[in-house]
Amino acid sequence: MEARGERGLKTAAGGGETVKATRPEADIYDRIHVLRYMGNKKNLLRFIIPELVSLVKPGEAVLDLMAGSQAVAYALKRRNTLWVNDVEPYSHCLGLALIENNRALSLEPLTTAPTEGYFTRTYADTYFSAEQCREIDGLRGRIEECRDVYRRALYLTALIYAMCYAQSTPGHFAQFLPPDHPRVRCLRGLSLSGAFLAKCAELAGVVPTPFRNRAFRSDWRNLLGGACAPWDRVGLIYIDPPYSGEQYSRFYHLLNTAVLNDEPDVQHLARYRKDRFKSAFCYPRRVRGEFRDLFQSLTAVCPRAAVVVSYGSRGLLEIEELAELAGEVYPRVEIKEKAYTHSTLGKGAGPVKEYLLVARR
Ligand SMILES: C[S@@+](CC[C@H](N)C(=O)[O-])C[C@H]1O[C@@H](n2cnc3c(N)ncnc32)[C@H](O)[C@@H]1O
Repeated sequence: MEARGERGLKTAAGGGETVKATRPEADIYDRIHVLRYMGNKKNLLRFIIPELVSLVKPGEAVLDLMAGSQAVAYALKRRNTLWVNDVEPYSHCLGLALIENNRALSLEPLTTAPTEGYFTRTYADTYFSAEQCREIDGLRGRIEECRDVYRRALYLTALIYAMCYAQSTPGHFAQFLPPDHPRVRCLRGLSLSGAFLAKCAELAGVVPTPFRNRAFRSDWRNLLGGACAPWDRVGLIYIDPPYSGEQYSRFYHLLNTAVLNDEPDVQHLARYRKDRFKSAFCYPRRVRGEFRDLFQSLTAVCPRAAVVVSYGSRGLLEIEELAELAGEVYPRVEIKEKAYTHSTLGKGAGPVKEYLLVARR
């Protein structure tokens, strides 16, 4: 597992002397691999985390409003109280397992028998072979029996990992590879149960924390409109919204179905959930209004918090437009930038700029 504290790496050199090694980008922060997540900030932690920690005292509450893979919150777990949110159920599951869970929990290996269920009926010979679907159905049934909320979330996190490892796709669930694709034969041979058990063992090393963290699953409007946390105590809000027209619910719908353990109606060749969430940040005509409403709500609900927004140079908005919207309610707005090669999960990577917009009263 990639789980390291913010401390010097030591390697043996020559006659047993130890020297500081040069660490790759992001390795100085705690991180944990579960899935390749579109737009995740795992490789930008050195750009983002120093900015965040300069704005909030140790122990104070940080709200990560659209936490996705939880990479940013996980890197802060030893230092701050964390409230994480995302509208997608798989992200909430990761939030429970990696962020709200404050103990190192060992997981008993789950023994399962392949079972015929919803995944087998709905997805056999698409994203997975029929046998792999039976493995998922068997694991889903066994995990459902687990009553401890954090153990259950850890098992589901291991299942998310195993599904992403064995998927016959270009790297996400927006489409599956055709049966005659050269990689399919090899992918169909991968054991989900083996990957699941290996990840369960690794997840026993989740970073513990002395803080009372919370993981929420909500559209940001409903979250900030509700009283589920004392929002006026938040010291810093980090926001990493979708930048482009790509809806996350299209790319990860199968993970939601695994986590929710339900049997949704599906549509289109790709068998998306009919009830999938569509974010206003992904529509050119709605994105401005969405940011305007968001900045206004934040100043009303979390009046003393600084706000940091991640955004990319290929986003639906120009960074200057975003700064103008923030400037309508925050008197101090600054932009920081870094050149970066963005992963677009199969659609090619190219040089882009990654921005941090910092807004303060
Ligand atoms: C760029 S990703 C966040 C990546 C994350 N920072 C990471 O490092 O993995 C954007 C996230 O915003 C979430 N999202 C989109 N619209 C939302 C909304 N209205 N309310 C809450 N979350 C939303 C998506 O589900 C997605 O996980």
